[in-house]
Amino acid sequence: MEHAEAVLCALGRSIEARDPYTQGHCERLADYAVALGRVLGLPEEDLSALRRGAYLHDLGNVAVPDAILLKTGPLTPEERGVMQRHPVIGEEICRPLRSLQAVWPIIRHHHERRDGSGYSDGLQGEAILVTARILQVVDIFDALATDRPYRQALPRTVALAAIGAEARQGWWDPQVVRAFRAVANDMGSR
Ligand SMILES: [Fe+2]
Repeated sequence: MEHAEAVLCALGRSIEARDPYTQGHCERLADYAVALGRVLGLPEEDLSALRRGAYLHDLGNVAVPDAILLKTGPLTPEERGVMQRHPVIGEEICRPLRSLQAVWPIIRHHHERRDGSGYSDGLQGEAILVTARILQVVDIFDALATDRPYRQALPRTVALAAIGAEARQGWWDPQVVRAFRAVANDMGSR
């Protein structure tokens, strides 16, 4: 079992490596997510699920062609449909591993939004597990705070303000976002 998990994590890293702009994303995500989970008082099992989820959340991108994954312009509705299947495909890949049970919902629900406007299941509020809510926030933060093909990295304070605005708009858990502000400032100053 452990061997299979190690293979999946290596696969997660190799998928990340397809996109030069996401280098180191999984490692940073793991550090942020675990630190945030700890601040929120989550038990050790959840912290371990968060660490694994950081590596595995975009595993389903293995099924997304480069032409879509690396496209810099806006996606067509069809392309967006293909892209948005990655959480479900990633969960399916990990399903045979019961040792990853706590990670399945993190993978499947990392693009949900609090107001139900996200995917894959349009879950709302607390129906999205706190581990998934944590991964959402750190995933968005890292995306905003690093260079992308279409824009430069936003300063951390600007990225945090943008996430705060999205939380007020109903996308992210405000309590998680508030706790993350302290974690990000603390980790950024090291
Ligand atoms: Fe994703």
